[in-house]
Amino acid sequence: MKLIYQGKTKDIYALEDGNYLLRFKDDVTGENGVFDPGANTVGLTIEGAGKAGLRLTKFFFEILKEKGIPTHYVDANVEEATMTVKTATVFGKGMEVICRYRAVGSFLRRYGMYVEEGQSLDRFVEVTLKDDERQDPPITEDGLDMLGILSKEEYKTLKALTQRIGDIVKEELAKKSIELYDIKFEFGRLKENNEIVLIDEISGGNMRAYKDGQYIEPLKLEKLVMEGE
Ligand SMILES: Nc1ncnc2c1ncn2[C@@H]1O[C@H](COP(=O)(O)OP(=O)(O)OP(=O)(O)O)[C@@H](O)[C@H]1O
Ligand SMILES: [Mg+2]
Repeated sequence: MKLIYQGKTKDIYALEDGNYLLRFKDDVTGENGVFDPGANTVGLTIEGAGKAGLRLTKFFFEILKEKGIPTHYVDANVEEATMTVKTATVFGKGMEVICRYRAVGSFLRRYGMYVEEGQSLDRFVEVTLKDDERQDPPITEDGLDMLGILSKEEYKTLKALTQRIGDIVKEELAKKSIELYDIKFEFGRLKENNEIVLIDEISGGNMRAYKDGQYIEPLKLEKLVMEGE
């Protein structure tokens, strides 16, 4: 097993069969010890955060599999905080696709002159480039095409997949009286056949979820969702 990349919240290893192994760490994004799913720095370490993130990720990826949505998921070992995935190449140098159901986070910071906090948004999709140095700049469909990151056809595919997956997560959370405000995904092309699939993770670290109008921290979210599972 060869370590090929150390991310902020996961370490990536190459397995002998060509798959990747993602090891979920207890580091979470945020600033000055405060968790923020939109942050580009490791803000704090919470014991158990890695396993909790993986447990939720496994839960959602297995639901997606049942529904026939293409992902990189192979299997997961929660005790070891590891997930085996099919190797993919990312678009450009990495990109995030966000689906917004209510105005919070960076959307609210940017457009606060026109929206109120928590205002409902109709499955609004936007793309940001993974570029910590430039604070993950948002980019339009035209920009993605012009810079050779994503064709217009691929953008359509990703937008539709993003809304479909977002809706599935939203529906699962609603079963526990939790409301999804926003969620971010990563996509890639599988090395084996170039298919566009969902990669990375689906955990509390990638979404904002609320219960009774109160934001739910990732560890708490994992407990609420997995209760009785
Ligand atoms: N199936 C996959 N194939 C290839 N790369 C993947 C796959 N799934 C996830 N990744 C990549 O693995 C990394 C996961 O690590 P982590 O989430 O810690 O990184 P990050 O902090 O989001 O980003 P950075 O890359 O800026 O460190 C990301 O770069 C993600 O794009
Ligand atoms: Mg990440």
